[in-house]
Amino acid sequence: MSDRAAELRALLAHHGHRYHVLDDPEIGDAEYDALLDELRALEAEHPELRTPDSPTQRVGGAPVSVLAKVEHLLPMLSLANARSEDELEAWVTRMRAHLAREGIADAQFAYVCEPKVDGLAISLLYRDGVLERAATRGNGEVGEDVTHNVRTIAAVPATVEGAPPLVEVRGEVYMSLTDFQALNERRAAAGESTFMNPRNAAAGTIRQLDPRLAAQRPLSLWCYGIGAREGLSLGSHWGALEWLRAHGFPVHDDVARLESVDAVVERCAWWLDRRGALDFEIDGVVVKVDDVEQQRRLGVSGRDPRWAIAWKFAPTTAVTRLNDITWNVGKFGDLHPFAELEPVHVSGVTVKLATLHNEEDLARKDVRPGDDVIVMRAGDVIPQVVSPAPHAVERKGRARTPRPPKQCPVCQTKTVKPEGSVFTKCPNLVCPGRQWQLLTQFASQGAMDIRGLGEKQVAALQAADLVHTAADFYDLTADQLSERLVEAIAGSRARPFARVLYAIGLEEVGFVTARALAQRFRAIDPLLEASVEQIAQTPGIGPIVAARIHEQLADPATRELIARLRAAGLRFEEEGPPPGEGPLSGKAVVLTGTLPDLTREQATERITAAGGRVTSSVSKKTAFVVAGDAPGTKLEKAQRLGVPVLDEAGLLEALKG
Ligand code: IVH
Repeated sequence: MSDRAAELRALLAHHGHRYHVLDDPEIGDAEYDALLDELRALEAEHPELRTPDSPTQRVGGAPVSVLAKVEHLLPMLSLANARSEDELEAWVTRMRAHLAREGIADAQFAYVCEPKVDGLAISLLYRDGVLERAATRGNGEVGEDVTHNVRTIAAVPATVEGAPPLVEVRGEVYMSLTDFQALNERRAAAGESTFMNPRNAAAGTIRQLDPRLAAQRPLSLWCYGIGAREGLSLGSHWGALEWLRAHGFPVHDDVARLESVDAVVERCAWWLDRRGALDFEIDGVVVKVDDVEQQRRLGVSGRDPRWAIAWKFAPTTAVTRLNDITWNVGKFGDLHPFAELEPVHVSGVTVKLATLHNEEDLARKDVRPGDDVIVMRAGDVIPQVVSPAPHAVERKGRARTPRPPKQCPVCQTKTVKPEGSVFTKCPNLVCPGRQWQLLTQFASQGAMDIRGLGEKQVAALQAADLVHTAADFYDLTADQLSERLVEAIAGSRARPFARVLYAIGLEEVGFVTARALAQRFRAIDPLLEASVEQIAQTPGIGPIVAARIHEQLADPATRELIARLRAAGLRFEEEGPPPGEGPLSGKAVVLTGTLPDLTREQATERITAAGGRVTSSVSKKTAFVVAGDAPGTKLEKAQRLGVPVLDEAGLLEALKG
């Protein structure tokens, strides 16, 4: 039993590393979850098998009452800055002069260039290969113990194979831009304050007292060095990075070892160029002398090592005039405030529109038309208005705080603010503003993917009174549209059911939910007839969302749209059994003993093809056990738990459904 737990932990660590660090998974999510479920079940039955480094603990243990202070074994230093090629050259000259005073003339350096990740520094202390403590930098000497939260970060190895007795890994914890944006959207929708930038979000998360909260906010890690160590000697920084990589720590693929200042300058320009394409924020490049002996001789000046420097990029914020605040009608009538800005350059892009999330966010930021405001752009994230510029707040004759409009800006219907919503809404179901959003989503790439039917075309078709709902697209003819577009619309009839379900644009039904519904119900009719409870049995759908979906499906307008789209020939049924679906869909099966005809692999393959999954230990959740010759203890356990036991013939029957 404990062997199996250890085996599962090792498997999960291996696959977690493939997924989170190497970005190259060997197994699918479902298989990973099956392993995790099995370990959870084992640990639940035998709590003594649970270890603090178990992957099951990543969801977060008990909250701490206060973050304990911890002293770093070696100080965590900071970095001096260089902002130009001259300053970089001057740094090298200073290093040479310093070494010359030590009696080493005309020193030559090799450099390592790394992204300067804009997150927060973390120290990970491993004793005998087990993560013992994780701490923030603090003042460099004393940091805060955040082990409880760091354990929830998937990219942080809980154990390290072949580690020395002690090693302290250092790196930067960050939140990806995608995760940051999703988190802010979630918070805005829940009426909570939004984070200013990914760095603040990461810092706020890592300092949470309750690891269950931290576990809900995905953080990542890039490692950039080794601090304290025992029994590990490395002659170069590059060697340290290679050691880290080989031992399961995420080191960015694009770190480089270079032999000249020119090459370093070129590399800094390369990173600046890449900056906008990365899914995390960097605020510069860190340049380090590679040779550890040279590092030692160069030493530290104040808080900064002489052997490293940060090449800093220009900031991603700018100040500009807020000309006006406009309100956009969203898919479901929500009014979203937008800032219209005097065009301004922010990290290489001209920005004239920025999001303000919702009216509470707007009130909290207290920006008003006419103010100078601080605008921030983070990678590819939509630009945001951060706050008024400090001087703007004292300005006389400031405009009033903008309120959401009393009438819909598109259809002039009187707006409402439903209880519990952070949005004021246009209640008109056929508001052209709302419809425009729904129609553009319908035609968009992730939905029906109708090439050539973009935002402008949709607006033009609405203005010409040709299209009101998505079903109208399929009635258009070549004299109303280009031949090409008519063909593209016709071609969209081939899109699978899940996409159609998503394209219809129901509240709470994003693509993932649409796919889950399509897989569970297989066709529109069973879904239209399903009860709230039945909808809630779909993976990933809770009772509240299920009720909302049910309500919309019962709405005559939805029914009519579906009927018309169906008449137009769109797919409202799943084609054949897609992967992971079939008679054994969602069922866990355990194999034991030797089967007469099928090998274990063949049996596994057939079960998987039928939508089931093969797990290795029997629990109450096991659908059935297939027992062959010389079965093991699994058979006994199945009998004890009352889990059905089949032979090979029984399995073949079950596979037919
Ligand atoms: S090295 C040499 N490498 O920048 C000792 N720091 O301004 C200093 N940072 O506190 C750390 N990416 O939080 C180093 N590749 C990188 C880094 C990096 C980001 C942060 C780190 C540090 C701060 C210093």
